[in-house]
Amino acid sequence: MRYLTFALTKGRLAKKTLEVFERAGITCQEMKDPDSRKLIFVSEEHGLRFFLAKGPDVPTYVEYGAADIGIVGKDTILEEGRSMYEVLDLGFGKCRMCVCGPESARELLRHQELIRVATKYPNIAKDYFYNKKHQTVEIIKLNGSIELAPIVGLSEVIVDIVETGSTLRENGLQVLEEIVPLSARMVVNQVSMKMENERIGKLIQELKGVL
Ligand code: PRP
Repeated sequence: MRYLTFALTKGRLAKKTLEVFERAGITCQEMKDPDSRKLIFVSEEHGLRFFLAKGPDVPTYVEYGAADIGIVGKDTILEEGRSMYEVLDLGFGKCRMCVCGPESARELLRHQELIRVATKYPNIAKDYFYNKKHQTVEIIKLNGSIELAPIVGLSEVIVDIVETGSTLRENGLQVLEEIVPLSARMVVNQVSMKMENERIGKLIQELKGVL
């Protein structure tokens, strides 16, 4: 039997994913060693292979078929725009993609002013402002600590993930508009979905049973 290969998003999502898999009876002992630098893990028993990748790389592995299945945040799926099937909402990693800023920026949004938007998600921000709001903005790509941008005057607002809202609160910022709710999703390569339909279908049903 051919291995089914999974690309998991390194970090919190992978941890939660393995918890869910375990509940469905799929275990991979060697993956739980926190000190291991190993990149790929095999479960001979289930005919599965797992590897860990950076979130934005997971859709790339899945589109090219290097992984049959990926577990990745909806934010990354939207941002990367890869061709693949989204088959399951895993229900964890729940958060929201929002436009945030100081209260004073609300007026700028309302009056369709030419504002600067800092974000780690330029494609999501572009789609939201250009296609949904028909507002011309300047998008500035950052790689982290996005909340800094309006505080130091790099941008008027940000487009970022809000989970508990504490990062915003502690920095005097607010949610100004909500773009889309997010959570972890299972994605499948388009060819794998046809070739391994039975196995993947069964796996989805098993996971649904424990979610
Ligand atoms: C994310 C996001 C916010 C924060 C939101 O950042 O970009 O900064 O979490 O969570 P909260 O609403 O619960 O405060 P992450 O920790 O992933 O790091 P980053 O700043 O490097 O993107």
